[in-house]
Amino acid sequence: MMTPLQSSRAMRDICASVPILPVLVVQDPAHAAPLAQALVAGGLPVLEVTLRTPAALEVIARMAQVPGAVVGAGTVLNAADAEAAKQAGAAFAVSPGATERMLGACEQLDLPVLPGAVTASEAMVLLERGHDMLKFFPAEPAGGVAALRALAGPLPQVTFCPTGGINPANMADYLAQPNVACAGGSWVAPHEMMVAGAWDEITALARAVHHALGTS
Ligand code: 3PG
Repeated sequence: MMTPLQSSRAMRDICASVPILPVLVVQDPAHAAPLAQALVAGGLPVLEVTLRTPAALEVIARMAQVPGAVVGAGTVLNAADAEAAKQAGAAFAVSPGATERMLGACEQLDLPVLPGAVTASEAMVLLERGHDMLKFFPAEPAGGVAALRALAGPLPQVTFCPTGGINPANMADYLAQPNVACAGGSWVAPHEMMVAGAWDEITALARAVHHALGTS
């Protein structure tokens, strides 16, 4: 049994270890190991594998074997998703929102979870339950940096991982916010590069994040 406080602490640690959390949509299980290796080599070892493809659970299982990779499941919508993710070897779960049953399942499963919120009320409901590390999704359509800055006023105890519309041009603005620990984005693993087996190019995209942010 993992309490929401323990879950939030675990997610804070995971998020604080990287500037960008690659959001991955992987169609082919054969891409799992080389993709994870490419992103670890580029300095982005925390990976969110979205449960949006039939291959996703197998991809999580394979990526979890890659040295240095910290692999979580994204698009966790309900208790069954949380169970499947845990069984596949996910180290954490990410959700675009939150439901009572999904949160309860993660607690039972000892699976740290990053639930999503964009409004003050959504964040307050999660805070009341003990979650103070939240995903801010969809970041850009929901107001972006300005919205995060506004939420920091009344809710300074909440830290966010914004995702949705983050890119190399706006990532630094997000990461400069005191209530942002890291940000999620899919641009570091383009589908075409995976299909082409362009793993070095994916490593270069990950390295470019550190280069742009001056984080080595
Ligand atoms: C998602 O859920 O797809 C993530 O938020 C990633 O969004 P992005 O493709 O805009 O980076």
